[in-house]
Amino acid sequence: MIARLLRSLLIIGTLLVSFETVSFAQEMTNSPRSITLPTDPFSFQSGAGQEIANSYCVICHSADYIYMQPEHSQKKWQAIITKMKHVFGCPIPQDQITPLAAYLFQQNSVSPPTQ
Ligand code: HEC
Repeated sequence: MIARLLRSLLIIGTLLVSFETVSFAQEMTNSPRSITLPTDPFSFQSGAGQEIANSYCVICHSADYIYMQPEHSQKKWQAIITKMKHVFGCPIPQDQITPLAAYLFQQNSVSPPTQ
């Protein structure tokens, strides 16, 4: 008798759980959802050399990290890029270092837009 009662309760419980699952699934598919992605304020800004920076300078850290640096001379940027290449293994080709240094020098005083 008790076993039969328990079995009935188990069946009723299982049914309730399945109904819940179905109504949850319906709710998920019936209500339209949309999301708006935020604009990325931390990308390299347009200018000659932007593509080089996008290709080689966001492999290990963000563009934002570079914009946060204090102002440097173009020569100093050249030295930083050279360090990234030879010390940290940045795969930037040698002939891209000078144009990138010019770009970063120009960008150095530009802050990324904040939304
Ligand atoms: C292979 C990984 C890697 C790549 C690619 C890379 N960096 Fe770095 N970068 C690092 C690491 C690691 C540090 C942190 C060094 C530290 O904490 O002392 C760093 C730090 C820096 C700093 C902070 C100042 C300094 O001298 O440490 C600047 C600026 C910088 N990177 C610029 C660049 C630029 C520009 C590029 C693209 C040419 C670049 N990085 C690509 C690894 C990388």
